[in-house]
Amino acid sequence: MSGIQIIGMGHAVPSVCVTNADMKKIVDTSDEWIRTRTGIRERRFCGEGESLATLAVRAAAEAIDSSGIRKEQIRLVITATVTPDYQVPSTSCLIQEKLQLPSGIPAFDINAACSGFVYGLSLVQALLPENEFALLIGAEQLSRMLDFSDRSTAVLFGDGAAAAVLQKKAGVPFYSHLAAGGNRSALWAASAPANRLPAWQNAEAQAERKEQSGGKPEDTGTYRIHMDGRSVFRFAVRALSEELREMEKQSGIPAEKVDQIVCHQANQRILDYVRKERGLPEEKFFRNLDRYGNTSGASIPLALYDLWNEGKLEPGTRVFCIGFGAGLTWAGACLTF
Ligand code: ACO
Repeated sequence: MSGIQIIGMGHAVPSVCVTNADMKKIVDTSDEWIRTRTGIRERRFCGEGESLATLAVRAAAEAIDSSGIRKEQIRLVITATVTPDYQVPSTSCLIQEKLQLPSGIPAFDINAACSGFVYGLSLVQALLPENEFALLIGAEQLSRMLDFSDRSTAVLFGDGAAAAVLQKKAGVPFYSHLAAGGNRSALWAASAPANRLPAWQNAEAQAERKEQSGGKPEDTGTYRIHMDGRSVFRFAVRALSEELREMEKQSGIPAEKVDQIVCHQANQRILDYVRKERGLPEEKFFRNLDRYGNTSGASIPLALYDLWNEGKLEPGTRVFCIGFGAGLTWAGACLTF
């Protein structure tokens, strides 16, 4: 059987670092509340000249450099994001243009929220021909969706991007599992602007608002993130626990024996809950959410990048990746380095 293997990684985090103390200046919160409820100490937000696409391009360029292949060899580009700069073209097509990747290859974005990168791994496995190379990116600019009058969500999220170059090779073990259970109310953000009426029925009112605002784009506020924290917490621990068992079953590797478990970096308490339930040691569950907060589709590749950079993904290292998020979606993959 042929499986996919990561052969290069890159990342890009924005220049603006917002500590919990900085957050306290704009939101009614405290460092103590954020740290004890979530484990987050700081997060990055895009600053001047930075956006989802600029981060994604930087991460992709570094991943190609570190892989040792030429950009002309890329045969597939997939970006997992819920915060693209444009509705069209896709972020993947923007990356293709900016990095001058080959024309005529498939390039598209996927929205599976915080499970997006793991969904992407499965798509790469399905679409990439043997011995070829793919670029898979997870990137988010969640700061553009935050409601800073809602302290229960504003403190949780951050921006960032990370990318992997993958090769499909004979004899490489790869396992994955994707899932979703449609649910809008637990975690949602509408497309902007969220006018329920078709535009033609709404055109007059829209023109009036535009005139009043001096031509600024509409911001109805409805595309901000809304979350029922408690039900998301309950869902997340169940999904993580189930996906861990699914990966053990498929790969035949018990969690005690796998080298790393890289989970979506949503909240330290979610990871601790499952880790304790399974009696697993802390070092098994990699975490960097203290530095980045929840970066949705970017969180798993950002964690993999840190492990890669620290030299902890030696050849033969086996890693379970587990994502869970809005949709609701959840997914697992077992990678061998
Ligand atoms: N600072 C200070 N106080 C706060 C803040 C804040 N940022 N946010 C909420 N509070 C207050 C509330 O107002 C409430 O006060 P009250 O008791 O006077 O009414 C109190 O803290 C407790 O609020 P709860 O919402 O009950 O807090 P809870 O202990 O449930 O923690 C949290 C909230 C951290 C969001 C928790 O529900 C959680 O971890 N949920 C999981 C959601 C998650 O991590 N989502 C990430 C995105 S989803 C994903 O990636 C899958």
